Amino acid sequence: MQYVDAHGAHIPQIGLGTMTLKEDVCVQAVKAALETSYTHLDTAAFYGNEVEVGAGLRASGTSRDKVFICTKVRENNLLPENFNKSLDQSLKNLQLPFVDLLLIHWNNKDIPFSTSIAALCAAKKDGRAKHVGVANFTTKMLDEAWAVTTEPLVCNQIEMHPFINQDKVVAASKKHGMAVVAYCPIARGKVPGADALERIGAAHGKSAAQVSLRYLVQMGVCAIPRTATPAHLKANIDIFDFKLSDAEMTELKALNATNMRVVNPPHAPVWDTP
Ligand SMILES: NC(=O)c1ccc[n+]([C@@H]2O[C@H](COP(=O)([O-])OP(=O)(O)OC[C@H]3O[C@@H](n4cnc5c(N)ncnc54)[C@H](OP(=O)(O)O)[C@@H]3O)[C@@H](O)[C@H]2O)c1
Repeated sequence: MQYVDAHGAHIPQIGLGTMTLKEDVCVQAVKAALETSYTHLDTAAFYGNEVEVGAGLRASGTSRDKVFICTKVRENNLLPENFNKSLDQSLKNLQLPFVDLLLIHWNNKDIPFSTSIAALCAAKKDGRAKHVGVANFTTKMLDEAWAVTTEPLVCNQIEMHPFINQDKVVAASKKHGMAVVAYCPIARGKVPGADALERIGAAHGKSAAQVSLRYLVQMGVCAIPRTATPAHLKANIDIFDFKLSDAEMTELKALNATNMRVVNPPHAPVWDTP
């Protein structure tokens, strides 16, 4: 495993995404992941599966200090009282006293950063989160959040895969010393079958999904692919034994012009343009 270090956080570069994984499917996926050398789990209050993520962790028998666990507070819970209730419920669901990383899942434009970021920082100060960060923040939002934060924001979790150009927000995150965590790293299933990724993968004896993950890792970001398929679970972490050439990275980077954003809900911010 490789890691990205940011403001004292040591983040495993590949983690298991768990959105949409429910009930026993989720428990088994988390258990299998931890038994397959994963050490990073990504969940959220919104996913409704923190109970199962915690159950999978315990079923695996993995010691708590070997696993990096991230959860998130939704945009409708960013006022201090709601924020605290949401986080307390997350910890109760997970049956943990703290998470390694707590994120604001989406900003709420009606709540000033001085309020939402203060609630986030309070969770770090009182020990319910080892590290804090954000998700879906634009370059402007990062600057505004950093202007008021009292704790380092260690990561910005954003959509990233070969079909989207996130250069500006990646540069802004790195300017603040933040790790970038790529969600939808397989473009929610659109990577398998894509010509260039399949061809590059064949040259390395790897799948298109593995090429997408390797591309992200070589860009210095973390990635949290989601799968409930045992073979995919193994494949998604088996990406540290090959290297994409400069020419292959350039070809994959050129696909950014596809400009395909998979996640764009009504509460999304005005995104940075390429
Ligand atoms: N912060 C946010 O706002 C935000 C937004 C979206 C997602 N996320 C996080 O990011 C995680 C990942 O994003 P995502 O779940 O939307 O999409 P994703 O990981 O890009 O794609 C998941 C899809 O890819 C398939 N897949 C996985 N590995 C594969 C492989 N090796 N070969 C072929 N197909 C494969 C999965 O099917 P199988 O199950 O059959 O493998 C599933 O259909 C989420 O689970 C969540 O934890 C965060």
